[in-house]
Amino acid sequence: MNRSDSIIIKENERVYSPDDDTHLLLDVVDVDEGEDVLEIGCGTGIISLHCAKQGANVTAVDLNEEAVRLTKLNAELNDITLTDVRWSDMFLNIEGLWDVILFNPPYLPAIKGEPLDPRWDGGELGDETVVRFLEEAFSRLRPGGRVYFCCSDRAPLTRIFNTVEMGYVMVEQREKTFDFETIYAFSLVAANTPQTGLF
Ligand SMILES: C[S@@+](CC[C@H](N)C(=O)[O-])C[C@H]1O[C@@H](n2cnc3c(N)ncnc32)[C@H](O)[C@@H]1O
Repeated sequence: MNRSDSIIIKENERVYSPDDDTHLLLDVVDVDEGEDVLEIGCGTGIISLHCAKQGANVTAVDLNEEAVRLTKLNAELNDITLTDVRWSDMFLNIEGLWDVILFNPPYLPAIKGEPLDPRWDGGELGDETVVRFLEEAFSRLRPGGRVYFCCSDRAPLTRIFNTVEMGYVMVEQREKTFDFETIYAFSLVAANTPQTGLF
């Protein structure tokens, strides 16, 4: 999906500001009019707003209440309707099945001795949030549903790829390399229905 210059995003120091991973994920995300889309970890709401502009019915959640407020504000500023914006820790506060679920998750290893920051720390090794997401998203997808997510080689990728293999087929991979890391955006499709899946 192309970045729309007409979408204006207000930022806030307590909410993750759109960055290279946001834009890499936007590059692979593809949604159709009328599809039910769930974004976990909406931050400023930038990805959700792009999906809604394509005509998708978008629900956006975040465990940071400030991100929930900012996403609502950005939707209002851009006059774009989101179906629902609410607090949720991953799928805890979410019901139903979705055509598309996407997440630019926190994917970096935690810094020893410092509290986890859910904007970027994905657990002790960095892969915990991504793996949890892939496992939980599987049973929330309609048959043939799609998942889009990001990760980085600063966290181990083996467990992430093993989890992908258990329930999904990889459709597309994009990456961007910097001096200190490579970030990835993946597009997946559910390999089985939730009723017959391996999770
Ligand atoms: C890397 S930021 C991405 C923000 C935005 N989607 C973007 O791409 O610019 C990760 C977001 O996920 C949220 N988050 C982290 N863990 C979460 C969880 N378990 N459930 C819901 N949101 C979570 C964070 O609060 C943060 O807003």
